[in-house]
Amino acid sequence: MNLPKHVAIIMDGNGRWGLKKKKSRNFGHKKGLEVVEKIIESAINQKIKFLTLFVFSTENWKRPNKEINYLFKLLNYYIDKKIQKLINKNIKISIIGNLRPFPKLLKSKIKKVQNLTKYNSKIQINMALNYGSRQEIVQALKKIKKKNLSITENNIKNNLYTKNIPDPEILIRTGDTKRISNFLIWQCIYSEIFFVKKMWPDFNKNDFIKIISMYKKINRNFGGLDVGTK
Ligand code: IPE
Ligand code: IPE
Ligand code: MG
Repeated sequence: MNLPKHVAIIMDGNGRWGLKKKKSRNFGHKKGLEVVEKIIESAINQKIKFLTLFVFSTENWKRPNKEINYLFKLLNYYIDKKIQKLINKNIKISIIGNLRPFPKLLKSKIKKVQNLTKYNSKIQINMALNYGSRQEIVQALKKIKKKNLSITENNIKNNLYTKNIPDPEILIRTGDTKRISNFLIWQCIYSEIFFVKKMWPDFNKNDFIKIISMYKKINRNFGGLDVGTK
């Protein structure tokens, strides 16, 4: 049976959920954050070592300022409110993405939470912030050029934000949408992909557990043949 080390999630559907509840898109984001906490707990219980969450994409800047600012506000709030809990629970927070365009205060809080949790070992939560796979690959190639290294798979891998993190065995996307949206295109070549109809605020621990147990039964052959096949 396969045990996943790394699960990646495209947490989609917050906005539609909020509007369906006759509230706002931002209301959906607020609810979505509560789900994040529950899924982190469940991932810990299932001994998953890496959980990568798509929080804000390089394309999400196209959204209205009101929504972008609210997402930043939520992130600020989350760090302030939960930093002690993350430390106590031995959770490591790590960021993938380009933090440069973020507001100064938020950036310093993000750096602080990364620093204060960097030796934690129960689980590593990779928050994808201003993350885009193409941008990640381009910056990796630039680094390789600067270091005068040759273009090899290993050198590319080692210059991605996800260096030192195994490829995700499982990719989940909620929100009834079947696309990758510029998320981990290098890392997910052999991930088992689960598209979930539910919007992210409705996703729960049970849904998560079910996916993990479905995954455990999958035969993964990575281009080879199943064990026992002649
Ligand atoms: C995903 O939910 C969260 C972010 C992109 C920040 P959406 O905000 O994309 O929600 P929908 O897909 O519009 O419903
Ligand atoms: C992907 O969702 C990004 C995040 C979940 C942060 P989007 O809602 O931005 O993706 P598209 O635009 O529907 O492809
Ligand atoms: Mg969406």
